Amino acid sequence: ALSQKTIEIVKSTAPVLETQGVNITSVFYKKMFTNHPELLNIFNHANQSQGRQQTALANMVYAAAKNIDQLETILPAVQQVAFKHRGLGVKPEHYPIVGEHLLLSIKEVLGGAATDEVIEAWAEAYGVIAQVFIDLEEGLYEEAEKQAGGWKDFKSFRVINKVQESDVITSFYLQPADGKPVPTYKPGQYITIRVQIPGEKYTLNRQYSLSVAPGKEYFRISVKKENDFEPNGKVSNYLHDHVSVGDQVEVSAPAGDFHLVEGETSPIALISGGVGLTPMMSMLDTLVQTNTDRKVTFIHSARNEEVHAFAKDAANLVEQLQNGVYYYGYEKPINPNGDHHFTGYITEEFLKDKIAENTVCYICGPVPFLKNVVNMLANLGISEENIRFEFFGPAMQITQE
Ligand code: HEM
Repeated sequence: ALSQKTIEIVKSTAPVLETQGVNITSVFYKKMFTNHPELLNIFNHANQSQGRQQTALANMVYAAAKNIDQLETILPAVQQVAFKHRGLGVKPEHYPIVGEHLLLSIKEVLGGAATDEVIEAWAEAYGVIAQVFIDLEEGLYEEAEKQAGGWKDFKSFRVINKVQESDVITSFYLQPADGKPVPTYKPGQYITIRVQIPGEKYTLNRQYSLSVAPGKEYFRISVKKENDFEPNGKVSNYLHDHVSVGDQVEVSAPAGDFHLVEGETSPIALISGGVGLTPMMSMLDTLVQTNTDRKVTFIHSARNEEVHAFAKDAANLVEQLQNGVYYYGYEKPINPNGDHHFTGYITEEFLKDKIAENTVCYICGPVPFLKNVVNMLANLGISEENIRFEFFGPAMQITQE
């Protein structure tokens, strides 16, 4: 255990580090990737300049440091990150590398303020925090491996079908190249796709939600084509433009803690914006397969009719439910008089009479959409534990003080 003195030093210096966060983080990544370029196979370097997810890593270290004497308060956030790490192949031996470079950058940025005593305290605290991640991740690796058809890191899958779902979304059906069974997963979970794109020095990774119920002879992901100038769209656009039936990609075992919870019986709402629809399709499909009698409210917001994916599939699935309703709307409809339930953004007024207070709500979509919907649901009296959401990309706000 950490000494009281160490705890005090770490807690009192955490806010200082946080204010220097961006500086420390940029020094940190530059140093780490210079000394360990192989880590660029894991990190999302396509987006290095923006440094969004990189900042998330450092921020979480500071958040953990502030709570170093009560780390259990950040466990839910750690759980989410642990899944992401496992899906990317982060291993125990990586932690000392991150730790070493984090400390070097703290020293460099803080200069004289970083006394030996401060650095030692942080080294100790980092060790404790890292161990929490390592232990959780070890459990997740074991779980992935012991599944029927399971594996630990990445495994080759063959594309057996490629289906266009809208002007921008295309589904890929993936089957293990080794002929082994497809493992089960929880509806809402994602896989990491790892590709080696010609001309790129390092592999690129990207997470995609599985978009059908488990129990099929394939994984299905539904991928949105991005603007060619969007660095984060590299993998998606490569899949769209260069990966065809018969080709192989590397796939992680399913991961993630945003998923349907078995055994729950209260009403459920699945609320999505844009390609945030994909995990909802898996959940909806599962609710149909299990013949649930829960009230299911499926709400989808798309930019317009042309980019509205799975319009028919979702309608068909909802129709098979004992107690399901389907609403969709368009931010900017092409045909303002056409079929849809709302125009513009989803409003509290719209949700008010559709979502009872005991509803379990799952929300997925771009960050502004999420923030909006999460706020509205809270205003409508939905409890925090029943507001479950997944960001696209890194979770920026991970813990409260
Ligand atoms: C992502 C925290 C150690 C590799 C993240 C995220 C957080 C985080 C908060 C963002 C999660 C999200 O996107 O939802 C931490 C903490 C660590 C730690 C607190 C140490 C205690 C490591 C290590 C590695 C690693 C040792 C491997 C060398 C990554 C990668 C991502 C990530 C590759 C995804 C971001 C990207 O694609 O660039 N981590 N992490 N992390 N972490 Fe860690």
